[in-house]
Amino acid sequence: MNTIIIGTGYVGLTTGIVLAYLGHEVTCVDKNPAIIESLKAGIPTIHEPGLKELLDEAKDKLRFSDTIPPLRGEGVVLIAVGTPTKDNGDADLRYVDAAAKEVAACIRADAKLVVVNKSTVPIGSARHVEGIIKRSLAQREVEATVWVASNPEFLAEGKAVHDSLYPDRVVIGASEPEAVNLLRELYAPLLEQTFSAPLQTPRPENYSLPSLITSSPTSAELSKYAANAFLATKISFINEFAGLAEHVGADITQVARAIGLDSRIGSKFLHAGIGWGGSCFGKDTQAIITTAGRYDYPMKIVDATIKVNRQQRLHVIERLQQQLKVLRGTTIGLLGLAFKGNTDDLRDAPALTLIAELHERGAVVRVHDPIAMDKAKEQYPELPVEYCEDPECLAIGCDALVIVTDWQDYKHLPLAEMKARMRGDLLLDARNLLSPVDVAEQGFAYVGVGR
Ligand SMILES: NC(=O)c1ccc[n+]([C@@H]2O[C@H](COP(=O)([O-])OP(=O)(O)OC[C@H]3O[C@@H](n4cnc5c(N)ncnc54)[C@H](O)[C@@H]3O)[C@@H](O)[C@H]2O)c1
Repeated sequence: MNTIIIGTGYVGLTTGIVLAYLGHEVTCVDKNPAIIESLKAGIPTIHEPGLKELLDEAKDKLRFSDTIPPLRGEGVVLIAVGTPTKDNGDADLRYVDAAAKEVAACIRADAKLVVVNKSTVPIGSARHVEGIIKRSLAQREVEATVWVASNPEFLAEGKAVHDSLYPDRVVIGASEPEAVNLLRELYAPLLEQTFSAPLQTPRPENYSLPSLITSSPTSAELSKYAANAFLATKISFINEFAGLAEHVGADITQVARAIGLDSRIGSKFLHAGIGWGGSCFGKDTQAIITTAGRYDYPMKIVDATIKVNRQQRLHVIERLQQQLKVLRGTTIGLLGLAFKGNTDDLRDAPALTLIAELHERGAVVRVHDPIAMDKAKEQYPELPVEYCEDPECLAIGCDALVIVTDWQDYKHLPLAEMKARMRGDLLLDARNLLSPVDVAEQGFAYVGVGR
C-alpha cells in the first residue's frame, strides 16, 4: 500500500522502515533536510538496534523527502511528529497542526486516504486533525475521500524495531469501517506475521499473533496515555518500596522478584533505580493530568507517580552526599548519559538532572556513554562535564562512580583497572546493574538502590 510517514524520528523512521520491509511502498518525509540527506545515504539518524540492517534490506521500497508528494489514489498517511510539553503541561500540537495542513495541501481530488495520528496526541485530536484537513479541502474545492484515525504507537526506544515487528497489539481508533479496513490491510503482515523475520531481529519464541483492538478515536487516544501512565506508575511504585527497603534493611531486587513472579503483577518495569526518563513518560503523564484538570478530575495516582520519580533522581544525590559528606571539590564519574540503555536519546535523561545538581553543588563531573556522547555535545554544548572515551579514562581521579544508564556493557566494566585510577572507592549503582559482592571484591564501597 502507498504509505507516507510525516516525521522520521524514533517512531516515524522505525515505522517507515518496518512497513517498507513488510512490502509497502513508503515515503518518509521530514522537514529537517539533514535527516533526509543522511537517510538517502543509508545512514539512520537515530540509534536503534537492527534499524540500519533493516533499512538496507528495505531500501528498494523506501523513499526519503523533505516535502510531501502529491497524494493520489488509495493510501495511508501516518503523522509521527513530536508532541512536546507546553508550559501549562498540555501536549503542544503545533507540529501536528502544521503536518495536517501540509498533508491537506497535497491531497488531490481522486485521493482515498486514511490520515493517522501516530503521534501521542490529546483526546479529541482525531477530530481536530479531521477539521484541519476538511477545511483545507473545502477552501481548495477538492472533493477527496479522507478519514482520520488514531493509531497510537507503543514501541519502546532501544527495542523499537523489535516492538514494531512483534507488537503485543495494534490499536485502531476510527469512526468509519473503511478507515479500519485500510489500516487492517496496512498491518496485515504484522497481524498475521506472514513476513520472514530479519536475521538481526528474530521473532521471539512463543510469540503469539497480536490482537487488533478497534475502538473509537477517543478510546484509542486515552489508551496510549493510560499505558504510559501505568508503566511509569509501576516504576515509581517499586522505587517507593526501594526507599522503604533501605530503611528496613530489605533488598528490593529480592522483593521485586518475589512479587514479579505473580502473574497478576508481572516482572517487567519492576526494576528499582534512578527512575524513569525519556521523551514520553514525563510529557504524557503531565499531559493527561492537564487534560483531566479540564474536567476538574484530579489524577492522584499519576500525580504521585511524577512526584516519586522526581524524588528518586535527587535520592542519588542524597546518597552521594551521605557517603562523601561534602560534594564541593569532589570528582564524580557518571556512567551513562542516555535515558536508558540501547538508545542515544537524551530527552529528560536522569543524567542531565544529576549533572545540573552536582555542578550546582560544586562537584566536577566526568561522563562516559557508549553511544550518546556525540548527541550530548551537539544538543547540550554548554553541559558542564568532561567527556571520557572509555570507563577506564572516566575513573581517573574520581571520588565516586555512578552507574546512571543501564547499558549492558556496564555489566562488564574493568572494575579493578577503574578502581586503581580513582581517588576514592565509592560505586553508586543507580540501576542495580551489578552484583554488590563482585563490586566489593574489587575494593569498592558499593551502594545500590533499595538494597
Ligand atoms: N520515542 C518514543 O519512544 C515514542 C513511543 C511511542 C510514541 N511516541 C510518540 O510519537 C511521536 C513522535 O515521537 P518521536 O520520539 O519519534 O519524535 P522525534 O522528535 O524523534 O521525531 C519527530 C520528527 O518529526 C519531524 N517533523 C516535525 N514537524 C514536521 C513536519 N511538519 N513535516 C515533516 N516532519 C516534521 C522532526 O523534524 C523530527 O525529525 C510523539 O508524539 C511521541 O510522544 C514516541
